[in-house]
Amino acid sequence: MSLPTHKPTDLAAWEALSEHFKSQKSLDIQACFDQDPTRLDTLSTVWEDFYVDFSKNRWTPETKQLLIDLAKQAGLGEAVDAYFSGEKINQTENRAVLHTALRSLNNDAVFVDGENVAPGVSETLAQMKSFSEKVISGSWKGHSGKPITDIVNIGIGGSDLGPAMVVEALAYYRNHLGVHFMSNVEGDHVQEVLKPLDPETTLFVIVSKSFTTQETLANAQTSRKWFLDQVGDESAIANHFVAVSTNLEQIDAFGITSENVFPMNDWVGGRFSLWSAVGLSICLAVGGDNFSALLQGAGAADQHFKSTPYEDNIPVLMALLSLWYNNFWGAETHAIIPYTQYLRSLPAYLQQGIMESNGKGVDRLGNAVDYTTGNIIWGASGTNAQHAFFQLMHQGTKLIPADFIGFKESLYGEDSHQQKLMANFIAQTQALMVGKDRQTVEQELKAQGKSTTEIETLAPFKVFEGNRPTTTLLIDKLTPKSVGSLVAFYEHKIFVEGILWNIFSYDQWGVELGKQLANNILKADPEQQKALDPSTQALLQKTSK
Ligand code: F6P
Repeated sequence: MSLPTHKPTDLAAWEALSEHFKSQKSLDIQACFDQDPTRLDTLSTVWEDFYVDFSKNRWTPETKQLLIDLAKQAGLGEAVDAYFSGEKINQTENRAVLHTALRSLNNDAVFVDGENVAPGVSETLAQMKSFSEKVISGSWKGHSGKPITDIVNIGIGGSDLGPAMVVEALAYYRNHLGVHFMSNVEGDHVQEVLKPLDPETTLFVIVSKSFTTQETLANAQTSRKWFLDQVGDESAIANHFVAVSTNLEQIDAFGITSENVFPMNDWVGGRFSLWSAVGLSICLAVGGDNFSALLQGAGAADQHFKSTPYEDNIPVLMALLSLWYNNFWGAETHAIIPYTQYLRSLPAYLQQGIMESNGKGVDRLGNAVDYTTGNIIWGASGTNAQHAFFQLMHQGTKLIPADFIGFKESLYGEDSHQQKLMANFIAQTQALMVGKDRQTVEQELKAQGKSTTEIETLAPFKVFEGNRPTTTLLIDKLTPKSVGSLVAFYEHKIFVEGILWNIFSYDQWGVELGKQLANNILKADPEQQKALDPSTQALLQKTSK
């Protein structure tokens, strides 16, 4: 069975939403609360330690119902079954999409090409945990007998962003190991990562699903040379280099022995792979038990997504709102604002997750779409973001739906800071919604003793029109489990969006052209260069040595 191939704009619910939207253009979120005393209850949901408040959005219970109708008409139910059961829903790469199998709470059997993948998942997880335990305890030694002190994750895209984001998110739960991330092909970055390290106590984890990625291979070779230049003995590589990949042949060619290879499967996409062996540096940083808790959190979110009616289904509602803003309100971007420094890299991580997945302009039948898809994702941690780009969110001309993510408890019990953090977290969504009208501004200026002329001059600049939409995700505490659930919710949001937009979310052909041309540029001789456009030729001349 393949995924449904409806054109969303042909569905009856889309038609109904278009009609409904005409009456919603002047919707005032704050006024909706006065008109409907049940609004908060209908438009918020509680699941485990998550409270998600969708009520400060430009929608009503009627909108929600129409969007749910759309999801049903789009065949979301059968698509979810296909997703979880290992069907090859990544049709353009002929692959299943089974990151959910990596965190299945009961290690349920899932079949790909007739083979149950669950035993292999358990085996790799056991291998990761046992290896991590040895490195953390110091029983895994470097070539000179010293324990490992530093890990370097060499990878890019999904082989970097997920592990880097989670290692940072779980800093509170970390052990003594220093964990570093080397991703960019820029040599200066490579040297800066290597600079403080001691080859005798450093372990390199080379992570590349394909093991053909230019950046990762170049960085791995440079790190290998750096290591051998100081250590001088090739046999020492076995104690200091391990690899995570599907491409075992290439790893062998690099000189890493088979016992130092952590396998991954082609049914796990790069940007959804932190739950696989790609998460080895997470497992090393926080230990096997915390890594398991991360998986359990994601597994519990999977169950919620699979079995909760759409009315209370967190990722489904996130996706429906996203479509509502994209396709009806014309919003182009979506801001992610975590109110914790621990999650400061979540926006960058979700940029890949969301934009590489749903930045597609061709539908599942191969036709160019005539409706918008994808979202430009951006954001930063609060309260820092308040002092950077919130001006535009409050008074700019763009409609920017935003997710505010906060935690009730501070990990170090810093209550006075926590109160201030939460006050800001709550006040910002309130301010974005309620705004400040001209009359209030004038009264405030008057109370400050301003003259009538001064009030006239200043007032327009101090008005906030409000009615700016936000979703609040309030979570009890930042733990490996809650981080796992949070990330899994966004993954499922991506899936639902892709189904509704009738696009393939799990390929990424759009990154190939640039790679191909970079290779051509590297190889091009002066004769071939003459065939290039004048701008590219000039840039080549200016950068060639
Ligand atoms: O260039 C895009 C991409 O293919 C991502 O999808 C992927 O996460 C990244 O490159 C790294 O790929 P690999 O793990 O194969 O090195």
